[in-house]
Amino acid sequence: MTHNGQFKIFTGTSNPALAEKVCERLGKPLGDARVTRFPDGEIDVKINDDIRGADVFLVQSTCPPVNDALMELLLMIDASRRASAGRITAVLPYYGYARKDRKDEGRVPISARLVADLITAAGTSRVLTIDLHTAQIQGFFDIPVDHLYASPVIKRYIANKNIPNLTIVSPDVGRSKVARAYAKRLDAGLAIVDKRRVDAGSTEVLDMIGSVEGRNVFIIDDMIATGGSIVDAAKACRKFGAKDVYVACTHAVMCGPAVQRLMDAQLTEVVVCDTIPMENKQFPTLKVLTVADLLAEAIRSIHYSESVSRLFDM
Ligand code: R5P
Repeated sequence: MTHNGQFKIFTGTSNPALAEKVCERLGKPLGDARVTRFPDGEIDVKINDDIRGADVFLVQSTCPPVNDALMELLLMIDASRRASAGRITAVLPYYGYARKDRKDEGRVPISARLVADLITAAGTSRVLTIDLHTAQIQGFFDIPVDHLYASPVIKRYIANKNIPNLTIVSPDVGRSKVARAYAKRLDAGLAIVDKRRVDAGSTEVLDMIGSVEGRNVFIIDDMIATGGSIVDAAKACRKFGAKDVYVACTHAVMCGPAVQRLMDAQLTEVVVCDTIPMENKQFPTLKVLTVADLLAEAIRSIHYSESVSRLFDM
């Protein structure tokens, strides 16, 4: 065993509320660590608990302010390594910089790979994350990655609503496999928005593959950033005859005009998970689901070397 049997959970400043909830589920206190700033803005961290030989879990979503969140995480990994932690698991409920995962034009970085390299080089033993933008980002790491899905949490919520005439809608062709899995599990119809990217910030809807005529629809995406994609998909559903339009995503980045766009879009409900904090993003039709149970179970399983695959359909 690489650790002394003790496990400790620490958090940076990006999503302490989620870390607290995870600790509650595990019946453990959150570890004592502080993140401060030098006068020039540089970040400093200090782990106050003794972690020599311990199995350390560092919970930090790399969400906005993404560079600060990432740097905090790297410094916490470094501090843990230098404090002789037995094993260090970086727990990223949301993995930022994930959308830049390949060279789709000349002279651009593969940011998702660089972030993986930074996390590994800092001294991480393993990674635990939820709904990577693309699953193949796991391959950017040469250390074990446990990649969880928020879909059991979201599917259970949708199922409990008992929405009649339900169709699951994928907002683009790329996400159709995920939408198909939802449709199968919920015994619902399936439709796919056929869109094309005009430029980095806008898309154009071309067609709807499958029918949403007279149906209540749930559009499923991995994240809402500016809200452009999901609101375009919602408009397309209405154009093709959908009745109630719900949307769900795992990561509510919700930057820039997102909240206003979502409110203006007259959606029946916007369902998101708490992988990213939701302060200042509240509006009446927003429903936030927690992934704390999922993460707590995964942390427990990793610590006791048990399989995490049962969590894929918890
Ligand atoms: C696209 O591939 C993603 O799955 C999301 O649909 C997209 O990144 C969301 O961005 P925005 O909300 O800015 O349209």
